[in-house]
Amino acid sequence: MEIAVCRPEDVEVLERFMPSTLVDGSHAARFARQEAGESSYLLPWIDGTPVGHAEVRWTGGRAPEVRAAHPDCPEINGLSVWPESVRSLGVGTSLIHAAEELALRRGPGLMGLGVGEGNARAAALYARLGHLPTMVYLDPRAQVDAEGIRQEYAERCRFLVKKQR
Ligand SMILES: CC(C)(COP(=O)(O)OP(=O)(O)OC[C@H]1O[C@@H](n2cnc3c(N)ncnc32)[C@H](O)[C@@H]1OP(=O)(O)O)[C@@H](O)C(=O)NCCC(=O)NCCS
Repeated sequence: MEIAVCRPEDVEVLERFMPSTLVDGSHAARFARQEAGESSYLLPWIDGTPVGHAEVRWTGGRAPEVRAAHPDCPEINGLSVWPESVRSLGVGTSLIHAAEELALRRGPGLMGLGVGEGNARAAALYARLGHLPTMVYLDPRAQVDAEGIRQEYAERCRFLVKKQR
């Protein structure tokens, strides 16, 4: 398994393997933010196939509440490993470590991420990796359904922070 930042030609490959649903979290939107210097879109590959993604947002948390409370903390957003058959093999852990290494190289080495309050397994993983719970917030999301209708909702999440030095 190797991890690399997204290249222009990867966007179409990602879309084929895992079609975007979130408006702000589409592969194209994440790649555009990387091109603008706002984030790094990290992709894990196994045998030439992308098996997940994580966007490291250098401009801070996607949710305004989080940015206000943790102004200098980059955020790992959109962390996902797929298909399910490649979960629990260490890919997610490697993505988080790759993000943390980038953060150490860029500056203070702070890293944050949000986890849905109902996602106990992911929360357990982040706790094992040293991320400490901070604030609870509502994460606003927008997605387009199969009929092309925009749906907006918010998920109750907890923001976790790891200070690396
Ligand atoms: C959470 C996730 C990114 C972790 O990636 P991963 O490659 O499975 O993680 P690792 O192999 O490094 O670590 C495995 C640990 O992840 C955690 N985990 C969380 N959700 C999981 C899931 N749906 N399947 C497997 N492991 C999961 C468990 O604590 C697991 O440890 P265990 O195998 O001892 O139970 C991945 O499982 C996933 O994409 N889950 C669905 C989407 C999601 O919940 N994203 C996180 C949003 S905050």
